[in-house]
Formats: sequence, structure tokens, C-alpha cells
Amino acid sequence: MFAILLQISAIVTVSTVHATDSVSPSSHTMLLNDGNRIPILSLGTVGKTNMADKLVKPAVIEAIEAGYRQIDTAAAYKNEEYIGEAIVDVINRGIVTREELWITTKLPCKVGTREEVLLALRNSLKKLKIDYVDLILIHSPDNLYHLPEYDYLNVWKGLEDAKKLNLARSIGVSNFNNTHINRILANSDIIPATNEIEVNPTYTNLELVAYCQSLNITVLSYAPFGFMVPRPFSLDPIESTFEEPILIQLAQKYGKLPCQVVIRYLIDRGTIPIPKSVNATRIHSNMDIFDFKLTTEEIILINELNQDVKVYHFHGKHLLAFVEYYGF
Ligand SMILES: NC(=O)c1ccc[n+]([C@@H]2O[C@H](COP(=O)([O-])OP(=O)(O)OC[C@H]3O[C@@H](n4cnc5c(N)ncnc54)[C@H](OP(=O)(O)O)[C@@H]3O)[C@@H](O)[C@H]2O)c1
Ligand SMILES: *[C@@H]1O[C@H](CO)[C@@H](O)[C@H](O)[C@H]1NC(C)=O
Ligand SMILES: *[C@@H]1O[C@H](CO)[C@@H](O)[C@H](O)[C@H]1NC(C)=O
Ligand SMILES: *[C@@H]1O[C@H](CO)[C@@H](O)[C@H](O)[C@H]1NC(C)=O
Repeated sequence: MFAILLQISAIVTVSTVHATDSVSPSSHTMLLNDGNRIPILSLGTVGKTNMADKLVKPAVIEAIEAGYRQIDTAAAYKNEEYIGEAIVDVINRGIVTREELWITTKLPCKVGTREEVLLALRNSLKKLKIDYVDLILIHSPDNLYHLPEYDYLNVWKGLEDAKKLNLARSIGVSNFNNTHINRILANSDIIPATNEIEVNPTYTNLELVAYCQSLNITVLSYAPFGFMVPRPFSLDPIESTFEEPILIQLAQKYGKLPCQVVIRYLIDRGTIPIPKSVNATRIHSNMDIFDFKLTTEEIILINELNQDVKVYHFHGKHLLAFVEYYGF
């Protein structure tokens, strides 16, 4: 019974989604709990940090020209300066205005106190070559660097300061579970606007998504392709591909590709997917998802692909493996 309720509550018909034109991603936004409107598709930008100087700027330019309006980065990705170069390029060429873009970044994981937040944010703004971010997140609630004074609640108070100074229009969290969220709710003035967590067909994360949505905290779905794409750093031997019969069948029904069915699945669960690609063909196909919609039954069928294994575990040897792979 509980499982069925979860399945259903995981499928919110997002009444706050707003679209003026059905095909262009730029016109699709969602209302956050702070009143700001966020584009419902984001471009992921994580990659091997020693390749960022060559790959990231052209990918971001390609994506914005194609119609993406949200870009997802983090201090840890060591690519903010290349994203900044892309932002300057598209604005100077009149492709978009700053107001039309939504830039999401994340605090360095070495920020453990309230006092360090503004300095770190100003550092990101300088690299991004902008004077405010649309959204900044606490990257993880965990004290990854074993800092003596670390407390994510104090870091959150620093983000509240940043919002009051208008250096960040919206503030949120990432990788927070129920316990972390409850502690923030019980002790702060501002509710997080978003929680960026892993959600995909191989890690459907139904309970946490439902909990966030019950609080009007918007879920940003990272690693949207789960184990359907290669994960060279993963220590979990998960076998999964885009060739799953249900994905093929739905792709045929809607005249789409399986990867597009997966992106649409995450949007139809009321979340904002963050597909990453530096390949122009894929950047275009990952956003060509605004002309169809899955039914509730189809979402439940895709939920059955769940293997309950995360691509990204933030602890132990799993953490070391992806930190080393990316060069964070
Ligand atoms: N907050 C956090 O802690 C956190 C953690 C992880 C990720 N994230 C964010 O979420 C984003 C997405 O996660 P991710 O990069 O791990 O995974 P992803 O977007 O699920 O998958 C990216 C991989 O899939 C490939 N790909 C992209 N589009 C494809 C398509 N249409 N068909 C086949 N393959 C395709 C990409 O290769 P090509 O580039 O060669 O196309 C890349 O290897 C990140 O970039 C980052 O911005 C946040
Ligand atoms: C979520 O927040 C928005 C903005 O404050 C508000 O308009 C909306 O009614 C809220 N939704 C729910 C379900 O509380
Ligand atoms: C959330 O994670 C913390 C560890 O960071 C753990 O102590 C707590 O039990 C977790 N809560 C839930 C609901 O999983
Ligand atoms: C780019 O993506 C297309 C479509 O998935 C794929 O066929 C092609 O091999 C990719 N190119 C590179 C250089 O990875």
C-alpha cells in the first residue's frame, strides 16, 4: 500500500509549470517556493577537470544557442571560468540577455562556516563573469574535508546572507536527505528552493522526491541517465542500457529516442533534469522533449527499472573513485 501511494505521490501534476510555446525549452519554467521561475531543463557540465578548458565553453554556447536557459555548475567542477566565457560570448552576440539565463552553481565543499560563504560566492561570480547567480546550492551536507568547524546549518545561514544581498536570487541544497532538510526547516528563516539529488530510472529515489515535493522544494535530478550511460568510475557492476524494452516501446510510440523518454520521464515526475553532454548532437536531442508527455501508467512502468543503486555515493571508496576520475 505504502509503495503504491509513493508511486502516485511521486507523480505530481505540476500545476506550477508554465509554458507559452510548446517546443522551445526557453519558454518552459517552474515556480519555485521563493516566487522565482526556473527553466525546467538544465545543462550538466561535470567532466574531467583537465579537459574543461577545451570542452565546456563550446558545449555551453551550443546549448544556449539551441535554447537551453539553465546551466548547472559547481566550484568543484573547476569550469566556472569557461562557463563565464560562454556567457559573455552569447550575451555579447545578442543570443540571450543575462536575465534570460539561469545560472546554478554550488559552494566549494571546503566551505564549512557562515563567514566563508560570501567570499566563496564572490569568487564564483568573478569566474562566471556575472554579478549574481540565479541559484547557489550547498553541494553536500557531509563534512567531506573533515573540517573541525563544519556545520551545513551555518553554511545555510551564509546562503541566507547571500540572498539578502541579492548575490543569489534563489538558494538551495544538494544531496540532502530528510534529516538534513528537517534540521534546516526547524532552524532557519528561508526554506531551500531546491534539492539537487540523484534521480534516474536506475535510482528512482521515490521517497525523497515525494518528501521534497510535499514541502514545495523543487527537485533537480542529477545523473539523469543513471547507469544507462557508461560510468567508468563506478564500483557497482550495474548492467543497464537504453535498450530496455519499455524505453524502446515508449520511444517508438512517441517517435522519440530512449534518451528523450528518460528526460521526459524526469520532467513528468515534476523534477528538473540536468543532462550533461559536450556532444552537439546529444545537446540537441536531450532538449527535444517538449512535444510529448508520458502518462501516469508509463511513469510507473519506468519506475520498475529501479535498481536502487546510486551512480554517485558520497562516502568511502566510492567517493574517492569519482573524485579521482574527475580530478576534483
Ligand atoms: N549536485 C551533485 O552532487 C551532482 C552530482 C553529479 C552530477 N551533478 C550534475 O548533474 C549533471 C548530470 O550528471 P552526469 O554528468 O553524471 O550524468 P548524465 O547527464 O546522466 O550523463 C552524462 C553522460 O551521458 C552521455 N550522454 C549525454 N547525452 C546522451 C545521449 N543523448 N545519449 C547517450 N549518451 C549521452 C555523456 O557523454 P557526452 O558528453 O560525450 O555526450 C556523459 O557521458 C552533471 O553534469 C552535473 O552538472 C550534480
Ligand atoms: C509553492 O510556492 C509557490 C511560490 O511561493 C506558491 O505559489 C505555491 O502555491 C506553492 N505550492 C504549494 C503546493 O504549496
Ligand atoms: C541522512 O544522512 C545522515 C548522514 O549524513 C544520517 O545520519 C541520517 O540517518 C540520514 N537520514 C535519512 C532519513 O536517511
Ligand atoms: C555524439 O553523439 C552521437 C549521438 O549519440 C554519437 O553517434 C556520436 O558518436 C557522438 N560523438 C562523439 C564524438 O562521441
